[in-house]
Amino acid sequence: MSDCSGCASAAPDGSCSSANGCDNPEEIKLQKTLGRIKHKIVVMSGKGGVGKSTVATNIAVALSLAGKKVGLLDVDVHGPSVPRLLSLKGKQPHIGDEIMEPVPWSKNLSVMSLGFLLPDDRQAVIWRGPVKIGLIKQFVQDVMWGELDYLVVDCPPGTGDEPLSTLQTLGPTAMGVIVTTPQGVAVDDVRRSVSFVGEVGNRVLGIVENMSGFVCPDCGAVHDIFKSGGGEELAKEAGVRFLGRIPLDPEVATSGDEGFPFMKVHRDTITGKAMEKVIAPMLELPDPPKVG
Ligand SMILES: Nc1ncnc2c1ncn2[C@@H]1O[C@H](COP(=O)(O)OP(=O)(O)OP(=O)(O)O)[C@@H](O)[C@H]1O
Ligand SMILES: [Mg+2]
Ligand SMILES: [Zn+2]
Repeated sequence: MSDCSGCASAAPDGSCSSANGCDNPEEIKLQKTLGRIKHKIVVMSGKGGVGKSTVATNIAVALSLAGKKVGLLDVDVHGPSVPRLLSLKGKQPHIGDEIMEPVPWSKNLSVMSLGFLLPDDRQAVIWRGPVKIGLIKQFVQDVMWGELDYLVVDCPPGTGDEPLSTLQTLGPTAMGVIVTTPQGVAVDDVRRSVSFVGEVGNRVLGIVENMSGFVCPDCGAVHDIFKSGGGEELAKEAGVRFLGRIPLDPEVATSGDEGFPFMKVHRDTITGKAMEKVIAPMLELPDPPKVG
């Protein structure tokens, strides 16, 4: 049964009060959009700066290079970074009467970010919860995503309005990918993210340990400069899948700064292979059952 609690004409228990099925045009539009997206992957973390945007962007790029139709949605309304990571700064989505076209990065990858709509990305945006929630819903329902194999969402840090309304908008089949760094403090934050996803009623697809070990520019090997393995331990403890470790690699930062996603240019490196391993389970997700 669909959850209609957000609808103006919902029954008190949150079910649809209309005898003829849903008659809320917004809800119908949202469900139609979601029905055309096979897999929804929401990249998040309790902590800032752990590499969520980098990981989300490279997941989306790698899936698109594997021939999948992919949408990348940046819901970081205070510091959208996807346009820069993909050299799409200054691009603008085509906006029609009730619909927006996402910005194409390639034939297989379309992108939507608030960064495309802000006149100046240094401008601080102060929006209250309800506005952010409405905006995220619009970014799903009013953007012409078309038929997608994957919608990858890049969230801001924390367990606040953005990841919450993203999961609620995308519904219970959306899966969280949680990014952490190996250190203990980050691991505590991730523990919170794992329970957060469960409380909203969604599943965690897995945990990624980013900046785990250092790819040495001198010898090319991965050196463990911090204790690694925190993400893996946590995954075991929480009973969720460990997707793998991505080392700290100066090339990852450089390719991000230059707007050439790592997985497009450096796929055949230690770090590229590590990212491939993280992404493999996403490529193997079974198709959802057909509805209707
Ligand atoms: N594996 C890595 N190796 C080297 N640098 C990395 C790696 N992952 C991310 N970085 C760098 O770390 C910085 C932060 O990454 P990113 O912006 O992806 O983090 P974030 O979690 O999205 O941050 P925020 O919480 O601000 O949204 C960037 O400069 C990025 O290039
Ligand atoms: Mg980010
Ligand atoms: Zn070395």
